[in-house]
Amino acid sequence: MSNVIAVVSGKGGVGKTTFSINLAATLNEFGQESIIVDADVSNPNIGLKLGIPRVTLSLQEVLKGEVKITHSVFIHPTGLRIIPSSVSMDELDCSLSELKNHLEELNELVIVDSPPGLGEDVQSIIDASDSVLVITNPDHAAVIDAVKVIKLAKDLRKNNIYVVINRVNNDVYELTPDEIELMCETPIISKISEDSNIRRSSFENIPIIYRNPYSHASIDYQYLVSRLLRQEYEPPNLLFIRRLLNR
Ligand SMILES: Nc1ncnc2c1ncn2[C@@H]1O[C@H](COP(=O)(O)OP(=O)(O)O)[C@@H](O)[C@H]1O
Ligand SMILES: [Mg+2]
Repeated sequence: MSNVIAVVSGKGGVGKTTFSINLAATLNEFGQESIIVDADVSNPNIGLKLGIPRVTLSLQEVLKGEVKITHSVFIHPTGLRIIPSSVSMDELDCSLSELKNHLEELNELVIVDSPPGLGEDVQSIIDASDSVLVITNPDHAAVIDAVKVIKLAKDLRKNNIYVVINRVNNDVYELTPDEIELMCETPIISKISEDSNIRRSSFENIPIIYRNPYSHASIDYQYLVSRLLRQEYEPPNLLFIRRLLNR
């Protein structure tokens, strides 16, 4: 697997931050360490979703050249390793143009959570990445915006671009994976179910894989990570009963 994975979307609110956290947590469960970089410098959410208090060292200090990126890693009680962004209003106009150079100092797997859209920051993030995971929901608005960010990634000469469909209900009101793949002209690497436990785990600042390991989304994350790591994965049996007991 490549070193830097950009998690991008196009449309906001499709689940990038949730995905970045849960991808890292599931990778941990499979024995693969990673670092999450909160590169949504205007609206940083990784810290908020993990209940991280205000940090003294953040990505902004790294980008300003005040601290080395390797010294800015925050270790969460769950074991997740994070380079958070400052939530301070004074740090809003921080350019990501040097992000690539800083990330090269991290000799490991890096997951970069991005702002939505196609702006300069997103371009810098995609430029710094080896793989691009485009998160979308199975609706027209989200997919049309995903198409735009895929075009941007292709224009930046990225080859490893994959789509993740998040919040899948498998009902008649959503686009099918085939339709989404056709619109995006890009392979779909994963479908993550709509799962009410995501909201609960986010409220409690715990990745879903730890809070509800048998829930639908947790199983989807495990399928995805087993695919990324090329490992065999068999979901536990009696899932229905396990889910009832795990409520
Ligand atoms: N698979 C899912 N099932 C249910 N809710 C989800 C799922 N993924 C994300 N969400 C919810 O969607 C909202 C937006 O997610 P977030 O990760 O903040 O999106 P983004 O970073 O793209 O703005 C949050 O309330 C989150 O709890
Ligand atoms: Mg976000």
